Amino acid sequence: MSSQSFHQEIDPSLLPKHIAVIMDGNGRWAKARGKARMFGHKAGVDAVRKTVSTANRLGVQVLTLFAFSSENWRRPEEEVSLLMELFVTVLGREVKRLHKNGVKLKVIGDTTRFSQSLQDKIAAAEALTANNTGLVLNVAANYGGQWDIMQAVKKLAAQVERGEIPAEQLTEGDLQVHLSCSGLPDVDLMIRTSGECRISNFMLWQAAYAELYFTEQFWPDFDETSLTEAIAWFINRERRFGCTGEQIKAMLQVEK
Ligand code: IPE
Ligand code: IPE
Ligand code: MG
Repeated sequence: MSSQSFHQEIDPSLLPKHIAVIMDGNGRWAKARGKARMFGHKAGVDAVRKTVSTANRLGVQVLTLFAFSSENWRRPEEEVSLLMELFVTVLGREVKRLHKNGVKLKVIGDTTRFSQSLQDKIAAAEALTANNTGLVLNVAANYGGQWDIMQAVKKLAAQVERGEIPAEQLTEGDLQVHLSCSGLPDVDLMIRTSGECRISNFMLWQAAYAELYFTEQFWPDFDETSLTEAIAWFINRERRFGCTGEQIKAMLQVEK
């Protein structure tokens, strides 16, 4: 199916509501071209732009992009500081366009470790786009799934300590409200580029029932066709949520 015919035929109710992407392979993409790793990160920004605009146009509700993990601080200092610079530049350059396109931007992760000026830019971009009703774009920066769960646990523990909820009555929902993506649908489709088949501490709670899609493509090569292929693959999956295949077929029959 060509991506064009896919666009025309797609039933919006079948789309994944929340797509999360582990944008991997920038360094190898650059290396294959005899260039420095930063060249790959810069090329990756174009892939981000294409992915955001395609997801927005298709009517995806939430797109969460893994930009920098809590483990990425372990990289050479120079790469980390150039990545921070790139983040600042891209944020400054893209935010107006995002706003014009109705995108609501949110940065998730422990941003307290970023420079004050980067934190201010993030706050300004979030405030500018806060009332937009198009795609919700979460950029995960200094994000780790374990960090996310832990910061939620601390808030919950404080509630218990204040006597607001008895510990024995705690539910999953009580924790969920404190997670980074609270109020948003869980991840339906998780995409990872570059051929690695691991989650690398991304969206551990939110992706509990996500369909996992791994592609050999390096992130800078990921484009509109790549995203529509991943969505077409997702639409053909049978999601069971613990039920049997027969139960799911019977439920779909009732819906028709
Ligand atoms: C992903 O590409 C971008 C970030 C983690 C910031 P990589 O930089 O991990 O690229 P590879 O995996 O080394 O090819
Ligand atoms: C995961 O990619 C983080 C981002 C895409 C930002 P990495 O390239 O850092 O993952 P590992 O360390 O190889 O698993
Ligand atoms: Mg990598």
